[in-house]
Amino acid sequence: MSESNPVVPRAKSSSSFVYLAGGLGLLAAVLLVVAAALETPGSSLASFLTWAFATNSVQTMWYITRAAGLVAYLVLWLSVAWGLAVSSKILDTVLHRSFTYDFHYFLSWLAIGFTILHIGVLMFDKYLPYSLLQILLPFISPYRPLWVGIGVLGLYLMVLVTVTFYLRGRIGMKAFRWIHTSSLVAYLGITVHSIFSGTDSSLTSVMLMYVSTFLITVFLLGYWVFTAVQRSRRKALAHRIA
Ligand code: HEM
Repeated sequence: MSESNPVVPRAKSSSSFVYLAGGLGLLAAVLLVVAAALETPGSSLASFLTWAFATNSVQTMWYITRAAGLVAYLVLWLSVAWGLAVSSKILDTVLHRSFTYDFHYFLSWLAIGFTILHIGVLMFDKYLPYSLLQILLPFISPYRPLWVGIGVLGLYLMVLVTVTFYLRGRIGMKAFRWIHTSSLVAYLGITVHSIFSGTDSSLTSVMLMYVSTFLITVFLLGYWVFTAVQRSRRKALAHRIA
């Protein structure tokens, strides 16, 4: 949601944040997937991984997918909330713009990284293993196909929004703004996905987390719309005076 002033010099140090974020999520996903794949009885690596992470238990992958899903949700929410705050200029008095922009990109990649972990381990779940197609195609999940399907679509939208950060010059600002605003749809879809497909939604603490993060987003969105209307009114007035 940081489209109001996109031409901001990027700080070199914080753009390396972006690579670190994607890298960390990917590394964690690869490690766990390799851990599960190498679970050959007798191999010393397999024994070590079993000893260290109990990768042979029925619940391990299920715990990991749930934990990674919750972290991915929180990071995605923070990215959306941060974007709304940046474009409403709330943070301008306390933080430099090059940092706020780069941190926004960083959060988007981090959310994608944790989502890769969230869905990658599903393929190695011992109770209900997913095929690659069941993960990539919406609405064919063996478990809650509608709600999981909405998560799949949300992920595609998340990736589209994040990748087009870098394609602004090619696609033009108008298309970029439209695509970027669709991150709100992605957030909404993923919230619905998380609530209705998650085991942990039955916990009061988790439900409180969903409700409070959602309400903060609604508030920031209202403020963003308010500042956008004020800005366009001021512009129109200045145009009339000139
Ligand atoms: C290809 C896309 C996706 C697939 C196939 C998928 C699959 C699933 C499945 C099967 C569950 C149920 C896990 C359980 O037993 O509780 C779940 C829950 C969840 N997913 Fe996803 N998901 C996807 C995308 C996402 C994305 C993009 C996010 C967040 C950014 C996300 C966040 C969550 C959360 C927070 C839960 C609830 C965890 C819990 O309550 O324990 N998912 N997902």
